[in-house]
Amino acid sequence: MSSRDPVSDRTSSQRRMTAPGFADLKAAGRKISMVTAYDYSFAQLVDSAGVECILVGDSMSMVVQGHENTLPVTLDEMIYHAEMVGRAVQSALVVVDMPFPSYHVGVSKAIESSGRILKESRCQAVKLEGGVDQADTISALVSAGIPVMAHCGLGPQSIHQLGGYRVQRDEAALLDDARAATEAGAFAMVLECVPQEVARKITESIAIPTIGIGAGPHCDGQVLVLHDLLGLTVDYVPRFVRAYADLKTEVLGAVRRFRDDVREGEFPGPEHGYE
Ligand code: KIV
Repeated sequence: MSSRDPVSDRTSSQRRMTAPGFADLKAAGRKISMVTAYDYSFAQLVDSAGVECILVGDSMSMVVQGHENTLPVTLDEMIYHAEMVGRAVQSALVVVDMPFPSYHVGVSKAIESSGRILKESRCQAVKLEGGVDQADTISALVSAGIPVMAHCGLGPQSIHQLGGYRVQRDEAALLDDARAATEAGAFAMVLECVPQEVARKITESIAIPTIGIGAGPHCDGQVLVLHDLLGLTVDYVPRFVRAYADLKTEVLGAVRRFRDDVREGEFPGPEHGYE
């Protein structure tokens, strides 16, 4: 007989992570893993690996589309990729980034944009950057039945205002943001590039889980961009990344071997042909 999982709305034979289940994970002291994915094949693999959360991140703008920052990716493009991920994932909670500036132009526009994400991609939650400044929007989305993950600390969508990807050190402002997002109803929060002691204080002072990236070990969970985790990133790799594979070398080697086999008439072999 299948048992009911305490952190999801499904039985053990059909488990699916939910947004409310994140609070249970924090209460149980269970660390949360979150990884980005942007297409069907990788989303299937990442989900099979058993992470609790998959993020269709606007980092797609950089690692998939080749832009220099996260600003250019559009709502339609986010939804197009979220649909691929939504079709693949069976177990993890799938969160989709609201792209710049889909939630900055008024609360009703934010509800319309995030409503489109949930309706068209079949993913379960959205993420947006901000704390105090986005509290009204978070609250309105939550009232509309849309689970929101907040993103505090370094907000890459504000890169031009911040003047660079810098560690955010204003402890009082960071605590205010974390509390405002929590009170507004966010179910979890990414903390990006904040000193680890500040991340610890925030994590201990709010009820919802913190998921860190460049925020040290005291957060309730950790997130990495898939391309960084797999060693696929060609350009700059931030100091907070640990690469768990070297797929860049693997891919280069495989494609070069294919090229050489074709040049030398070694591929295709007799076993690859039809009579
Ligand atoms: O877009 C993204 O991948 C993100 C993570 C870095 C948290 O927001």
